[in-house]
Amino acid sequence: MFNQALKNVRLSPIVLVSEEVNRISEETGRDFILFQRGEMGFQTPKYIVDAMFEAINQGNTKYPVSGGHIKLKNAVINKLNDFNSIKGITPDNIVVTHGGQEGLQLVFKLFEGNKVVSFSPVWSVILENYVPFTNLKLIEIPFENDFSINYQLLEENLKNVSLLYLNTPHNPTGKVFSEEEIKTIVSICSKYGVYILSDEAYERITFDGIKHFSPMQLDYDRIISVFTFSKTYAMTGWRLGYIVTRDKEIGRMLRLAEYTQTAGVPTFTQFAGVEAISNKEKESEFLKELLTEYEIRRKTLYEGLSSIDGIKMPVQPQGAFYIFPDFSEFIPKNLTEEESKLFIHRKLIDSGVAAVYGSCFGKYSKNFLRFSYSTTNIKQILTGVERIKEALNK
Ligand SMILES: Cc1ncc(COP(=O)(O)O)c(C=O)c1O
Repeated sequence: MFNQALKNVRLSPIVLVSEEVNRISEETGRDFILFQRGEMGFQTPKYIVDAMFEAINQGNTKYPVSGGHIKLKNAVINKLNDFNSIKGITPDNIVVTHGGQEGLQLVFKLFEGNKVVSFSPVWSVILENYVPFTNLKLIEIPFENDFSINYQLLEENLKNVSLLYLNTPHNPTGKVFSEEEIKTIVSICSKYGVYILSDEAYERITFDGIKHFSPMQLDYDRIISVFTFSKTYAMTGWRLGYIVTRDKEIGRMLRLAEYTQTAGVPTFTQFAGVEAISNKEKESEFLKELLTEYEIRRKTLYEGLSSIDGIKMPVQPQGAFYIFPDFSEFIPKNLTEEESKLFIHRKLIDSGVAAVYGSCFGKYSKNFLRFSYSTTNIKQILTGVERIKEALNK
């Protein structure tokens, strides 16, 4: 009777880890260093909050324009032009969504039942939610050991496939795909007419002078990019994002989906979004503060984990706020699949450290763990590293 697809949607392991940590804290009083969530440890900047109150006070409290208010669409066009060097976008190419997640859901829905390719590891929510919800058949293409791309493997798997899910900067590895990598991927996709769903949630969180390169900068129409305000402006709770595509047919379908799904994002939220991306001075002030802090955290966590013998570290991640090291060395060979999956996770939990076990991110990552430094300060990171060291030496 009920929709079978819903049965297969799983609870987020990231949320489950958080619940486990809360329960243990309540029961035993143990404190935890929290490396598990992608939440922002910053408050939304005041200039954005003020813009929302102003919009409410001016009476913008009615049903919103579905698909997005023209003021936000125009502000987005300017941002795409100035920051992303994506040219020639018109309001018709944009759909405003409830965060990046609704954007992804709408796009995946368009490809319901199809074969989809993704590099692996892949963000856990894709696996536990979108894939079962839209009955997709996901093919995981593993990165090489240094998170580089095996193009031959990609090409072999793209035949008879409709969509490639591409995420840069990447969750969980922190990899930022280079311009050259994106160009090669787009060129391979165009050979087979494969659509690209480009998830650019972390576009502004990059380090070492690296700038995010969007596939939409290239001349290929079958690209649908998903953006969000969540990570750039510490607006995770506002639920504001947008989809951009030059593909006319997809654009029409997305708008239709938007009407039927949610009747649009509240106008006052959209107006806060206009201010967020248009007030360049305040935006750059905030991003400077955010990136300076994350830069130090990244370095501290990376160096801390690297100082522990036996952990195989990837190259230093250049984007997002995650590090994804390999703990194979510490996992006894005689364990069952199920036991080995949670072995390190358990050890760390027992020592007061919460991270996310690698199997949530696909079938090639069971010996890895994801550490997020988005909500942990330097002192907590240092304490966390000490605890990990002790846990592994026990
Ligand atoms: C890779 C990736 N894409 C998209 C999102 C969507 O974020 P939101 O729905 O808050 O915009 C997230 C959030 O954690 C993410 O990690």
